[in-house]
Amino acid sequence: MDLQPSHHLPKTQHFPSLSFSPVIFKNRPTSLAIFSLSLLLSCIIFFTITRPFQPSSLLDIGLFSQILTKHQNSAPKVCDYSYGSWVRDESYPLHKYTEKCPFLDPGFRCQQSGRPDTGYQKWRWQPRACNLPRFNATDFLDRARDGRIVFAGDSIVRNQWESLLCMLAQGVSNQSTIYEEHGSPITKHKGYLSMHFEEYNLTVEYYRVPFLVIIDRPPKDSPKEVRGAIRVDRLHWYSAKWVGADILLFSPGHWWNEDKTLKMGNYFQEGGAVNTTIDVKEAFGKSLITLMSWVLQSLKPEQSYIFFRSYSPVHYRNGTWDEGGHCHTFVSPEMDLTKLESEPLNNLQISEMIKKMEDAQIKAQFINITYLTELRKDGHPSIHREPGTPETAPQDCSHWCLPGVPDTWNELLYAHLLSKQYRTRLKTK
Ligand SMILES: *[C@@H]1O[C@H](CO)[C@@H](O)[C@H](O)[C@H]1NC(C)=O
Ligand SMILES: *[C@@H]1O[C@H](CO)[C@@H](O)[C@H](O)[C@H]1NC(C)=O
Ligand SMILES: *[C@@H]1O[C@H](CO)[C@@H](O)[C@H](O)[C@H]1NC(C)=O
Ligand SMILES: *[C@@H]1O[C@H](CO)[C@@H](O)[C@H](O)[C@H]1NC(C)=O
Ligand SMILES: *[C@@H]1O[C@H](CO)[C@@H](O)[C@H](O)[C@H]1NC(C)=O
Ligand SMILES: *[C@@H]1O[C@H](CO)[C@@H](O)[C@H](O)[C@H]1NC(C)=O
Repeated sequence: MDLQPSHHLPKTQHFPSLSFSPVIFKNRPTSLAIFSLSLLLSCIIFFTITRPFQPSSLLDIGLFSQILTKHQNSAPKVCDYSYGSWVRDESYPLHKYTEKCPFLDPGFRCQQSGRPDTGYQKWRWQPRACNLPRFNATDFLDRARDGRIVFAGDSIVRNQWESLLCMLAQGVSNQSTIYEEHGSPITKHKGYLSMHFEEYNLTVEYYRVPFLVIIDRPPKDSPKEVRGAIRVDRLHWYSAKWVGADILLFSPGHWWNEDKTLKMGNYFQEGGAVNTTIDVKEAFGKSLITLMSWVLQSLKPEQSYIFFRSYSPVHYRNGTWDEGGHCHTFVSPEMDLTKLESEPLNNLQISEMIKKMEDAQIKAQFINITYLTELRKDGHPSIHREPGTPETAPQDCSHWCLPGVPDTWNELLYAHLLSKQYRTRLKTK
């Protein structure tokens, strides 16, 4: 089943419509550090009690002592890429890839599916206070050599994964040296795909895990209305394959809403039983804690870089996705800044978890693309869906044409990797 988007998300504060200084100086309040420390401590105690002794628990303790000796250095100034504007750039997408890139899902090749306008490919994101470094595929590949990059989440994450494959392929002269490890075709029907860049001994992997945690049959004796159980304390089985990855990018966005959970009879389970009083927000928070515990337990903090991409807005107008909502008339970005939706609550929960991870010395980064993406109502496939889609099918105003908006998300990913001086080879030190 593919993504059936919905925009009934919990909303909070509105985006700023005008100027405020977007430069963020990362400082971590001491109270937060203390809170995180106690959270970490309880994690360690929990794992020490519940797990047999294993080398990774040594690691946790090493991590712990690092925090105890940590000085509150003034953190380096990091540019806020999340706020700015789209600038028309006629040179786009010349230096990028085209729809001919062999790794694109037919559903994202909008020109091939009859989209007449190309303007949506000609916008460059200009952050307010700084410039984005120009994407350099050779440099990215070189930094990621002998490594593994994991993308985990819903079909919007697959959209971003395909964009990165095509962006990176620009740095490889012989395209036949890039292949799927099991010979699988790139399609939305696969739950797991792993592209190997042979010249660089690099894999870029995608895992379909819309909730990050396990979705299961309800346990026996569940109330009648329970049709599925989202087990907020169990990370998806695929997580076993993520161990050892160098870069992990998560984003669960589109499924954490009432329509795709409670209203469909999918309730939340903790321990052995479904608890029908847990709401979506609380459940999402619990799943983030589950993820963070897994990161602490299973990844090496000196090796792995964690990224969490924020929510990617949908643009259904005059109706919801299944009630005739459309976006096919949009050919340029939103210029009226009063028309923006408020920010989904999920984003705040994610950014808080990222702060806790950072305080626990995990290399973690929140990639906030919600505002820049909210402006791009022109970037969706709309009626130009993959060949064979019935004319009566709902429009697609949630995924993105490629080349297109997700390329910018990957430019932000690259910018953050540069600012963290990312290089896999350092892991052998
Ligand atoms: C994401 O970025 C937008 C634009 O800068 C900002 O208004 C919003 O508060 C940010 N969200 C979070 C959770 O940091
Ligand atoms: C891209 O990176 C490579 C390798 O680091 C470097 O040799 C090249 O000059 C860079 N290209 C541009 C346009 O910056
Ligand atoms: C390729 O990368 C993997 C890590 O992903 C590493 O274990 C292996 O040794 C590398 N192979 C070569 C030939 O360098
Ligand atoms: C490209 O790579 C493929 C697969 O490794 C190889 O068979 C082919 O000879 C290469 N082509 C060139 C022009 O190097
Ligand atoms: C179910 O969840 C609610 C909300 O978190 C909590 O107050 C309650 O104690 C839970 N019930 C059980 C039986 O765990
Ligand atoms: C939505 O529908 C109304 C009335 O049916 C129409 O006037 C309006 O232009 C439509 N809006 C868009 C964005 O198509």
